[in-house]
Amino acid sequence: ADSISEELVKAIRTIPDYPKKGIIFRDITTLLGDARAFRRAVDALVQPWAGSKIDQVAGIEARGFILGGAVAHQLSAGFVPIRKKGKLPHETVRIAYSLEYGIDEMEMHKDAIKPGDRVILVDDLIATGGTAEAATRLLQRMGAEVIAACFIIDLPDLGGRAKIEALGVPVRTLAAFPGH
Ligand code: PRP
Ligand code: MG
Repeated sequence: ADSISEELVKAIRTIPDYPKKGIIFRDITTLLGDARAFRRAVDALVQPWAGSKIDQVAGIEARGFILGGAVAHQLSAGFVPIRKKGKLPHETVRIAYSLEYGIDEMEMHKDAIKPGDRVILVDDLIATGGTAEAATRLLQRMGAEVIAACFIIDLPDLGGRAKIEALGVPVRTLAAFPGH
């Protein structure tokens, strides 16, 4: 029988030269559309915290919303959206982060996290780690205890994991694509 990691790697579609030449895009829509793979991925992501008290799951727009909602439900936790700037209606806290070209900002509602909340951060993929690092810092700034950061896909050659671990947060990933 395949390991969970092998099963998930097979369920992810690879698109060469998207969104531009030289980039290998790892497409999770095939995994999401495969009922068994989707359930196994969510179950595997939460497995270390099944039965423990998690207050909130924070998901990063956009692909982290799909998984984060499922993970929150599975852990009986709340869900906190971390969004690209300008999308949230109430007072927010904001942080800048680097993209491949230039910088952007992400934000969440000021009252979304209470100091001491035990939070799990979820996104689909960690590459350079810039996105997840900014989200982790934002959560920690609001007093969250970030218990872990969870991703389906790791592109280990881009070094994202170390950036999150440097903030004292363990990283859980399910499927690695070396050499990406
Ligand atoms: C992708 C991916 C992660 C992030 C990882 O999101 O979904 O959120 O990049 O990259 P990093 O580790 O190098 O920061 P993207 O910004 O493409 O937006 P989307 O989720 O809205 O599609
Ligand atoms: Mg994303």
